[in-house]
Amino acid sequence: MFRDTDLSIAFIGGGHITQAMVCGLLAAGCSAKKILVCTPSTQGQKQFIEEHQVLATGDNSLATRFADVVIIAVKPEKVPLICTEIAEAMLETQQQKLVISLAEGVAHARLREMLCGSNRIICAVPNLAVTLRRGMTGLYADPDCLFKDTRTAESLMASLGETLWVQEEMQLADVEATSGSSSAYLYYVLEQMQQIAIEQGLSEKEARNSVLQAAWGAISVAQNSQQSFAELRQSAVQSKSTSKDAIQALKDADLPATLRTAMKTVKQETQEKLQTESI
Ligand SMILES: NC(=O)c1ccc[n+]([C@@H]2O[C@H](COP(=O)([O-])OP(=O)(O)OC[C@H]3O[C@@H](n4cnc5c(N)ncnc54)[C@H](OP(=O)(O)O)[C@@H]3O)[C@@H](O)[C@H]2O)c1
Repeated sequence: MFRDTDLSIAFIGGGHITQAMVCGLLAAGCSAKKILVCTPSTQGQKQFIEEHQVLATGDNSLATRFADVVIIAVKPEKVPLICTEIAEAMLETQQQKLVISLAEGVAHARLREMLCGSNRIICAVPNLAVTLRRGMTGLYADPDCLFKDTRTAESLMASLGETLWVQEEMQLADVEATSGSSSAYLYYVLEQMQQIAIEQGLSEKEARNSVLQAAWGAISVAQNSQQSFAELRQSAVQSKSTSKDAIQALKDADLPATLRTAMKTVKQETQEKLQTESI
């Protein structure tokens, strides 16, 4: 559950990740009156108010003044503009706020520069499963960051799933490749399995249920087991000779090489963005 119930949280940006985090935070016991979503469209604001009973505005400066924690949840190219508004509001009120940036590939040093040297900045890489409080969030704080701020970020993100703190900012690229982009890989595998099951004779609904329940079952067993994934796979293969042939087919097609290429691509792209100060 979310323990820092006195904290007010402002989201700058009202898109997919904000929607997911708001759902998760409300489910974790955060009060709707402590959440403010700032998004330009009045339609977007209305939707957050009606669906979640949270506060909403189109004024980033007001959102910064309202919050103890400001979460940057806009596309990376919008970050400089947003940071100018946040920095001006902090200067006006003479109050530095904890800023958690979700913007992909925007480096901590660049954020610090845009936020007038503030040492109250944390970078986070969540995924959309935060909506069901089953998220996996990578977190990075530089050595100047206050301990109370890392504790707040931990409490916030841990209420939405698991967290992984990295020592070096570049390691956020590993998180991006592993859990940040995982939904895309995993849904693609499930989609392909469903399609093949349909071709082999199941109805669309039967195929979806079978694939979903099989994936859910396998993950639940792994979560409740001390065995490694390799050991679990070996047990599965030992109990069924057909599984052995299936694994051999996947090995023959060099599935590990394909996965390695996919994850390496995400890692490299993220590292390049972090290194080149793309915005
Ligand atoms: N989606 C994910 O799974 C995920 C996961 C981790 C991190 N992230 C990061 O989180 C950020 C947001 O991603 P997203 O998927 O939520 O994007 P998104 O759905 O495109 O949402 C962006 C939001 O920002 C709003 N916005 C645009 N200009 C603004 C301004 N000047 N002030 C305030 N809000 C403004 C947009 O409003 P309009 O639509 O009205 O323009 C929209 O509501 C990105 O940097 C992304 O890298 C996303």
